[in-house]
Amino acid sequence: MLTLDQVLAWLNALDDVYARNKARLTDLDSAIGDADHGINLARGFSAVAAALAQQPPEDIAAALKTASLTLIRTVGGAAGPLYGTFFLRASTVSAGKTALSAADVVAVIEAGVGGLLQRGKAEREDKTMVDAWLPALEAIQKAHAEGASIAEMMRQATAAAEAGMRATIPLIARKGRASYLGERSIGHQDPGATSTYLMLQAAADTWN
Ligand SMILES: Nc1ncnc2c1ncn2[C@@H]1O[C@H](COP(=O)(O)OP(=O)(O)OP(=O)(O)O)[C@@H](O)[C@H]1O
Ligand SMILES: [Mg+2]
Repeated sequence: MLTLDQVLAWLNALDDVYARNKARLTDLDSAIGDADHGINLARGFSAVAAALAQQPPEDIAAALKTASLTLIRTVGGAAGPLYGTFFLRASTVSAGKTALSAADVVAVIEAGVGGLLQRGKAEREDKTMVDAWLPALEAIQKAHAEGASIAEMMRQATAAAEAGMRATIPLIARKGRASYLGERSIGHQDPGATSTYLMLQAAADTWN
């Protein structure tokens, strides 16, 4: 089972993860965007940690909802509404729960990714965070079908997201600011796919 404390440990770890990777993400976004992705996420997850400390949530849905509303309010750009929608949908399917089974974790991530796809309308190989989320979701579903633990599911998801992130390098961007560059977006790793990989890696680390 995944406890409320483990969900909180993950959300708090993301504050640290994006603070440490702020320059890296911003460098990636300076190549094909407007150099704000790392700054946006560091600001957003620092606000999430502060909001959770200020008003400790009673269940997992409340923790995810606080994350969602805080990200929508503080991140901006494309990533704010997208990650905000991910956490909002994840919150909806975990209503009333103080612990999640492996099947619940699959359902939460399915719902989150579904929301993000609906919101951003990106498809696979558009060179976005979807290129990390979809392989990660598939890895989670496969691992779960094979009876894997939550920790193992997240390790598989992280490996799949990492491969998806690297596979964005040769792609032409078809969504967001990077798409204005056309062929000049080739040869650069997508910042959003990178921040998604980091998010999953933090889950694998904290839920170990
Ligand atoms: N429609 C979309 N669906 C999914 N992900 C997207 C979409 N548009 C952009 N992204 C992701 O958002 C990342 C950029 O996030 P950022 O916080 O820098 O927003 P931004 O500066 O407003 O960029 P943009 O102008 O590309 O929207 C991209 O690297 C990409 O992964
Ligand atoms: Mg940007």
